[in-house]
Amino acid sequence: MNQFDVAIWVDGHLRMLDQRVLPHEEVYIDYFSAEETARGIRDMVVRGAPAIGCATAFGVAVEAFRIAAQGIPASWPEAMAPGFTVLEQSRPTAVNLRWSLERMRPLLNFQPPEQVPQRLLAEAQDILREDHESCLQMGRHGAEVLPQFQDRPTTIMTHCNAGALATGGVYGTALGVIRGAVDAGRRVRVIACETRPFLQGARLTAWELMKDGIDTTLITDNMAAHLMSQGIIDCVVVGSDRVAANGDAANKIGTLGHAICAKRFGIPFMVAAPLSTVDMKAPDGSHIPIEERPISEVTHIGGKQIASPNVAVRNPAFDVTPADLITWFVSEKGAMAQPTTEKMRSLFHG
Ligand code: MRU
Repeated sequence: MNQFDVAIWVDGHLRMLDQRVLPHEEVYIDYFSAEETARGIRDMVVRGAPAIGCATAFGVAVEAFRIAAQGIPASWPEAMAPGFTVLEQSRPTAVNLRWSLERMRPLLNFQPPEQVPQRLLAEAQDILREDHESCLQMGRHGAEVLPQFQDRPTTIMTHCNAGALATGGVYGTALGVIRGAVDAGRRVRVIACETRPFLQGARLTAWELMKDGIDTTLITDNMAAHLMSQGIIDCVVVGSDRVAANGDAANKIGTLGHAICAKRFGIPFMVAAPLSTVDMKAPDGSHIPIEERPISEVTHIGGKQIASPNVAVRNPAFDVTPADLITWFVSEKGAMAQPTTEKMRSLFHG
């Protein structure tokens, strides 16, 4: 199994694999402040909800070391406030970003104040380690409920990249379920949707899975309904950027269409996400902010303009799949059939 240095601590600073240029180039960028880290998140050097959570935690730590190099501040919460704000504003949909900041914030009062940067770094490393562990658990739980056949492999369709690259660098969420099945000795085939406009499926998912030797076929997003209608897909497995309290799940734009088609053709639809992606403060999906990204992502491919100049463009980066279209919600706590508010609550109090 391949492991990726999605967001790691090296020589006193944050280093991230630049996912914008994969799979053709493996380039690393170093970050020395919260502001630089926020730019890396906004510009998609790092992307995928749990990966953004890990990068945010290291972004807080690197900011504290930057400040401490100029002298220990009288008030850490005050000195760090601009860093927290710039990170919080970098991307709106993935709740792991806010989750990470809320986990780091109380540590600004750690005593003695000289040890705050080190304490923040230790927490960021814990967040990364926990992410690895929860991906492995999700993989095991999700694999148990995937459809199985005696005489043929299971064909799983996925959208966007919910793999090691979208998490702390190991296993992934949706791809963790696929890897969990492979590790349990099951035969699987993957259909990866290319995921316009940013092409996370074509560039990242197909690359990640092929590196692991997993049978992978790339399709354009508009081929998915046809393949489902032909009985070629046995299950759809995706990740999520924010799951509301009732189980509605925001994920990469295009996911909702796949969920509607899966329901129409009787195909199980699975969302795999850690509890750090669940936002119990959002009662349902209508409370999830949907990011609108630069229109150049739609008008250009690989830096080349393909659309008519001056055409009006929309670029919502996510959509929300209602809970009633979700067959399984898989977290590190287990596989839950058809999420409801009551069942989601039990994940946090059980
Ligand atoms: O815009 P992105 O690439 O950050 O969007 C990523 C997704 O939508 C993923 O499916 C989601 O974050 C789950 S990642 C385990």
